[in-house]
Amino acid sequence: MKLPEGLAGVVISETKISSTKDAILTYAGYPIQELSQAPYEEVVYLLWHKKLPTETQLTEVRKQMVSDMVLPDETIRLMKYIALEPQHPMSILRTTVSLLGTTHNNPKRDEPLRILSKMLTAIAAIIRLRDNQELMKVNPQWGVVENFMYLFTGRCPTSQQVKMFNTVMVLHADHEFNASTFTARVVASTQADYYSCLTAAVCALKGPLHGGANEQVFKMLEDIRTTGQKPIDYVNERMAAGKKIMGFGHRIYKDGDPRAKILRGIAEQIAENTNNSVYFNLQEQIRDYMFEKTHLHPNVDYYTALIYHCLGLDKSTFTTMFAACRTAGWLAHIMEQQADGCLIRPSSEYVGPINRHYPGYEKES
Ligand code: ACO
Repeated sequence: MKLPEGLAGVVISETKISSTKDAILTYAGYPIQELSQAPYEEVVYLLWHKKLPTETQLTEVRKQMVSDMVLPDETIRLMKYIALEPQHPMSILRTTVSLLGTTHNNPKRDEPLRILSKMLTAIAAIIRLRDNQELMKVNPQWGVVENFMYLFTGRCPTSQQVKMFNTVMVLHADHEFNASTFTARVVASTQADYYSCLTAAVCALKGPLHGGANEQVFKMLEDIRTTGQKPIDYVNERMAAGKKIMGFGHRIYKDGDPRAKILRGIAEQIAENTNNSVYFNLQEQIRDYMFEKTHLHPNVDYYTALIYHCLGLDKSTFTTMFAACRTAGWLAHIMEQQADGCLIRPSSEYVGPINRHYPGYEKES
């Protein structure tokens, strides 16, 4: 049997975590549009337990996560050493997750909530270290999102910024069997440890056809702005050269990514608040033209690129932010795979040469 290219549409396993059936995104049965206002910690609980937490449970999750948002001194020392060489932040993250697995591999500490907290803290640290900025400390009075924002920006976020970023984190928290989640599940299916699964997921997310697209989206906006080229000309030139326009198209959402629809409103608002509307206006022109020309819609990465820029992040760090948001989903899938799944080991069809005979070394002389 010939499978579709890239396993498109192939159901390889059951899951109770999230669904994109009929192009409607739900987490444990709840539509993303409704959850986009829910506190991030509540969504983490939902993805992991498939039910909403009680108020006491929510408070406990929040308290535990915030208290775990600190890295061991040894980890920070090694991260600083790794960050000495100029490298892409996703490369530093890949090594850091693996590093956390060695400096942090005490089984008692391998608790998913603790790992998630460390991941957020490590990603904030990568962003700060990249600019030689001091590392910040959490405030136990705040929630996870507020603290995370403080850790990577060094500034106390406004309540409006926290609300917006909470939505960004919730919308990115999970997305069924996307490439990085599937990668994590393949590794989890061998019963490897959490850190090995997460390191693999980070590697898959790095690519420009997946999480790396948000960085490329902002590069496009900067290029257009600095060259003064018309967005229509940019799109035409690029597509004539056989290149894709980053931030458009989706394997599942052919009529529009539901996350992008929510994120568009946030991008418009935050761009206005931070005098970045020039970029939002460019995005609108590109979006309209892309629809006219290709009928492709923006995906989740299209608007987050601008949101991250407005929060003061450098474009090279955008994909680490995606990783921070997606870690909750990756961990949910790792746990599900290890509890219910079997070893993932597909087969291939060999199409190379056959019936060859090795000549042996003697024939040379
Ligand atoms: N720009 C221009 N043309 C595109 C784009 C795009 N962004 N996306 C798809 N197309 C075209 C393809 O060239 C192809 O045309 P053809 O049939 O004439 O060859 C057709 O649309 C189908 O595209 P595929 O790549 O086969 O669609 P697929 O479902 O496999 O890919 C993908 C989806 C990888 C996301 C693709 O749309 C793409 O590369 N987009 C740009 C990168 C991007 O934004 N990635 C982020 C995705 S969201 C996420 O991972 C979080």
